[in-house]
Formats: sequence, C-alpha cells, structure tokens
Amino acid sequence: MERIATARPVIVGAGLGGLYAALALAPRPALVISPEPLGEGASSAWAQGGVAAALAPPDAPEVHAADTCRAGAGLVDPAVAAAAAAEARGHVEALVRLGAPFDRTPDGGYVLSREAAHSFARVARIGGDGAGAGIMRALVARVRETPSIQVLEGAEATGLRVSAGRVTGVEIAPARPGGPGPAAIEAPAVLLAAGGAGGLFALTTNPARIRGQAMGMAALAGAAIADAEFVQFHPTALDVGFDPAPLATEALRGEGAILVDRAGRRILEGLHPDLELAPRDVVARAVYACAQAGGRPMLDARAAVGARIERAFPAVAAACRRAGIDPVREPIPVAAAAHYHMGGIETDAAGRSSLPGLWACGEAASTGLHGANRLASNGLLEALVFGARCARDIDAALGPAGPAPEVAVPRGGALPAPDPALIARLRRAMTDGAGVVRDAPGLRRTLREIARIEAEAPACAALRPMTAAATLIAAAALLRPESRGAHFRAERPAPPPGEGRRSRLTLDRAREIREAALLETAR
Ligand code: FUM
Repeated sequence: MERIATARPVIVGAGLGGLYAALALAPRPALVISPEPLGEGASSAWAQGGVAAALAPPDAPEVHAADTCRAGAGLVDPAVAAAAAAEARGHVEALVRLGAPFDRTPDGGYVLSREAAHSFARVARIGGDGAGAGIMRALVARVRETPSIQVLEGAEATGLRVSAGRVTGVEIAPARPGGPGPAAIEAPAVLLAAGGAGGLFALTTNPARIRGQAMGMAALAGAAIADAEFVQFHPTALDVGFDPAPLATEALRGEGAILVDRAGRRILEGLHPDLELAPRDVVARAVYACAQAGGRPMLDARAAVGARIERAFPAVAAACRRAGIDPVREPIPVAAAAHYHMGGIETDAAGRSSLPGLWACGEAASTGLHGANRLASNGLLEALVFGARCARDIDAALGPAGPAPEVAVPRGGALPAPDPALIARLRRAMTDGAGVVRDAPGLRRTLREIARIEAEAPACAALRPMTAAATLIAAAALLRPESRGAHFRAERPAPPPGEGRRSRLTLDRAREIREAALLETAR
C-alpha cells in the first residue's frame, strides 16, 4: 500500500461535523475523505427536524440545557449541556452567514418547530422538514469555494494508523472502482466524523453505508468507547418496506398528528401524560409494542395537518407518495427504527479521543451531551458545537500552518465489499437481540452471532469495523442490567431513580464479554 505523508489534518467523513470543522480550520489546509460525491450519503443531509436552539423568549439556554438533561435520563454531562445550549444561537447564526436558508417569520425571527420533550418550540428548520439538506447544500457550496480544503471524493477510510499509542494517519480504499486509494495517509491529526451505527440494524433511518465504521475503526486502534449501549430508535419511520426507512419527522406530532393502532385507538393513551410528545424512547417502545401485538401502528396527520403536509412537510409527503400512501387521506404506517447512536468514541470537551492524534465529532463521538436518550434536534447542534471545537483544538495542537500541497492519491480497485448475506445476518442479529427491547439471553445470542459472522470472513477488512461496533453495542448493553433512556431491559423495566453512570469500554473488554457469551453455549 502506498504511503503518503501530508501536513494536512485529515477529516474522515463529510457530514455536518466534518465540513463545519473543515471550514473552521480554513485557511489551514485540510483533507476531507468522502465516500460519496460531496453532499450525498451523509446522515446529516437526511435530518428533517433542524437545529435545537433557544432563539426566542421566553425560551432560554438554561431551559434548553435542563430539557437536554431530563431527556438524557441521568447520564447527560450538565456542563456539556449548558455549554452546547449557550453556544447554539451562535452556531445557527454562523450557518446563516454560510448561506443556510432557515425558515423566517415576517419580522425576521426564526420559524421554530416543537419536538418531543422540549419545553418550547425550539427547532430552527428549513423548508419545513428539510433542515439537514438545506444546511448541507450551503456547506458543500462553501467547501467547494474554499481553496484550502481538499476533498477526496469516492474514497473510504478502512482503518487508522497507530504508532506507539498515537494515531498517525488513516488508511483509505476506493469506495467504488477507480476511486482514490488504496493508500496510507500519514497525517498530524485525524478527525473522525463519519456518522453513527444505524445501518447495523435491520430497520434504520440512516443511509445504508453507515454501519458503525467510525466507532469500530477507533476501537480497533485502541480508543475508549463511551455509552455504546444507547441507540435511539425513532418511533415514526415509515413502515413501507423501504431500506433505509424514510422518516416522518417528530415535528408532525408537534403539529398535533397522533399515533393510532389499526382500530384507531391512541396508542400513547395511559402510557404518558405528554402522549405523542413524550420522550422519544417512550414513544418508540409504545410503537414497537403495538407492532409486536399486531396492532399496526400508524401516524395519523389527517386532522392536524391535512393538505398542509405537502407544503409544510414536503420530504415526508414525497416519501409517502413513493410508497403509494396519501397522507392527506390515510394514516401512515410506522415502525420504530434505529436512528441515532448516543454512544461512540469517548471525547473530552475539546473533542479529543483517548488516543493522542485522534479527535471525533458528530454522531461518531460520545461527548456527554445526549446521555441515555438524545433530545430531538440536539444531534445537528452537537455536530456544530464539537465540529468547531475539534477544529480549534487541532489548530492549536498543530501550531502555525506551513506549506501543505494537495495530496496526490493513486486510483485503484475498490476494497472487496462484505458478503451481503453476512451483513443481512448482522443487521438481523442486532435488531433481534440489541433492538428496542433487550434481555440478557437475546444479547448473548447476538454476541455469538457477531462472533460467527466475524469468523466466517476473517480477511474481510471492510467488515471488521462493523463487527467491532456491533460487539461494543451488544456487550455494553449486556453490562447494563437496568432500563435507562433508550436502553430497555425487559428483566428490569422500571427505570432506576436519579443519576446513573456513563459506560466506558475498550474493544478488548467487549471481546472478552463476547467470549464469555460463546463459552456459555459450550457449557
Ligand atoms: O423527527 C425528527 O425530525 C428527528 C429529529 C432528530 O432526530 O433530531
């Protein structure tokens, strides 16, 4: 494999966190690795809700931070929540300067959506339900016109280079034939911003490519992983046989859309005083239970939104049409789908991982903002806050920028893709054993299946980060015998009172737990 040295920090991933960091680093030269053409294939572009920020009185950053802590079920780091909420307005304004066309009121304020567990309407949106796409279009345009940012499109990171406990670079391969790579790029800093782990589950709202690789690569390099067990399931993914499943944004429920079963009964009645605006984990479990019982959960937007859905929620309306559903006249079938990973690469307040030379931001990271259950639309906020912090910290760590010519990477054959049958088995195992409702026997079965899948393809480099991430999620879930936030253990359904402890795992420890699960069947 060709070795190439550069003075540019390397940013793996071209979603919101990665591009915002690249722009914040400018004019320091940076190299961004993007498997897809810029702007395509990143989860950020699929975000419908928007950016949570206290932008209009009587809302205030302190209330936003308190809502974040309450939703996070005793595991949010209050200092991180307070700082993120305080910085939120500044980042929304920065996005406006970068060209993001937020929906505005006639008097120049922001149109704000209401989402679950927020005390106020607080989500700054674009085009109704197109915030992610609108923000990413603006950022991609700015990145394209910033000469210091080099983007390697069509390349994917396959692993980190480590020397004496320090991350010294990244290995890349062509994401498709003729793309850049294979090559080992030696760099002074690596920022992992390559998304979460939704695609490890059979039903997900994430782009199919995103299967825990960023967390897996970091763990394989020896980085500590925090809160891996906390996977957020979104209660209203369209259940129409599409993979990935399109999202029906929570803002629809903020407008009054209701969740009903096939008999038209409200499925949240009696379960939570806030009904459809209860915390996301509560709603997801109610939808899941309804589906398990054959009740066919549906989101009924007819009375509350009606024909306005076409204009106010064009992405949802278009997805319904693709599925042959008329949301003005019919309820929309929904299911709980893996949507966001609260866990990930453990970082400090500057975005530094436990390994020198490695930073992380966005869904790949676990910063302490989300705890056991992310408050809706805090995901884009976290990508902004920590994308900017990582850029600042990398800049400070590297000192004055010297010359850094563009990196010339040879083009070659794509890395052999994992066997689709193995990927399907991995996704099924995660949904069955580490999904909305978990128990110890199911988690052990999942760990055993992950081990078998890994053993069946020992030479498949593309599969290794995925099975590493899956192992971490299932092992961390097995180690937490309580129900907290999005992590629900059937053996102990009642949530414990008060604060909890965040989890921290290395891949070696997660593998030991997997080994123990294997031995248990052998006995
Ligand atoms: O329902 C939504 O619009 C999702 C928002 C989010 O995941 O932050």
